[in-house]
Amino acid sequence: MASSTLNLCCTIEGASAEQQAAMDLLGKQFLLPDERLAAITKEFRRRMEEGLAADGKVLKMIPSFVTWRPKGNETGSYFAIDLGGTNLRILKVTLDGKGGVTTEHQKFTLTQEAKSRTLFDFIAQCVETFLDDRNLRPTGRQPPISIGFTFSYPVQQTSINSGILVQWTKGLNVPGCVGRDVVRLLQDALLRLGLRVKVAALVNDTVGTLLSAAYNDPSSQIGIIFGTGTNAAYYEDVSNVAKWKGANPASGEMVLNMEWGAFDSDDFTFLPYTPHDIKLDRKSINPRKQAYEKMISGLYLGEVARNIILWLADQRLLFDGRSSEILNAMWSIDTSYLSSAAIDNTSDLSKIQQIIEKTLNVPTSTMVDRRIFKTIAVLVGERAARLSAVGVVATLTKRLELLSKKINIGIDGSMYEHFPGFKEILAETVSHFIPKDKFKNINFSLAKDGSGIGAAIVAMLATQTQ
Ligand code: BGC
Repeated sequence: MASSTLNLCCTIEGASAEQQAAMDLLGKQFLLPDERLAAITKEFRRRMEEGLAADGKVLKMIPSFVTWRPKGNETGSYFAIDLGGTNLRILKVTLDGKGGVTTEHQKFTLTQEAKSRTLFDFIAQCVETFLDDRNLRPTGRQPPISIGFTFSYPVQQTSINSGILVQWTKGLNVPGCVGRDVVRLLQDALLRLGLRVKVAALVNDTVGTLLSAAYNDPSSQIGIIFGTGTNAAYYEDVSNVAKWKGANPASGEMVLNMEWGAFDSDDFTFLPYTPHDIKLDRKSINPRKQAYEKMISGLYLGEVARNIILWLADQRLLFDGRSSEILNAMWSIDTSYLSSAAIDNTSDLSKIQQIIEKTLNVPTSTMVDRRIFKTIAVLVGERAARLSAVGVVATLTKRLELLSKKINIGIDGSMYEHFPGFKEILAETVSHFIPKDKFKNINFSLAKDGSGIGAAIVAMLATQTQ
């Protein structure tokens, strides 16, 4: 969908004066002018500098210990574990030496037991299943398999294959892990199964995305996830990282995991909070954390929309004041419903009608109700895309010198890939803040499945450079 569609104003055909007034208010809250974005970007840049100078800041700017770049001519097969917000995947990644990869992977859904207690044993069992199903389990005489571990949560990395979990995000909250080395936890679980598998690299999914983009395109400088959660990693000159006390890498650079989802979480001042965001935050499992992520990423946008819908229904401005048990339940609106609603161009908005009446079980909906529903989806999506541009612009302007030649930004995640208009609005908004002659050098590319592929690449590079 073209960005102009998402830019539609909040005038609702057939709406009453009260409905229109409520929609105009939403428009004011959600359609952020460039000046507002500029102010947020300025603060974002300040927070980046703060995070480069010292540990424990709101933007953590975590050194990843990845100091190399793939050349694109590497060959061979490598393994990875990709623990994301929703699934666990085990992959065998084969590099073709020409920047291309093929993957063989198996997806596992985290069981309740894994989520609440036995996460690392569960992961080890999945590795075992993957290897056994393919007859790949190393015997006593064979060298152990090296595996890269993509762990999409904030970790204070202590080496390329160790790191302490700082906190859980994105709805996962397994007790007993915060403050511990997640590689140790996994390696011990693998040992308990007698598997000859060595965790050679611990990689954030954004770092993986960047490395997989770099294997394909050496001009890659930034890796971003706009998915269930959000975050970015980029190559930084080590001399700019005042807090880095380790040896200077030969390359002079290192990938930093920004953990940008936490932006503004300490003082809740700069982002455009509405009562609907505050309500979500208060009821989330991590209140006063991941403030930026909660306005941009897939885990949360459906819930922001649900809060808006109930606010309207409670004033009898929507669904004639009716709700349903489903709609009353937290998280009942999946962000994918917003995606479908935002592109429903049928004359009677029949897809939206289906969502309202069948999925959410609200008895009936008028055309005005459906138009309002669509506008809410569009507003929440547009705000997410424009706020996403803030992080991109802040990161690009941090290394503006790179923009004198072509650079690639590798991006993965469901919001970027599937939310209608998201990519277009993101790129367009970035273009408002970067000089034209520099903006033309930026390429945004989809780094599909980059997180797992990148972890295998890092495991390969880490093993080769040891
Ligand atoms: C996590 C990051 C991760 C991002 C995208 C956030 O919730 O804190 O580590 O990169 O989600 O998956």
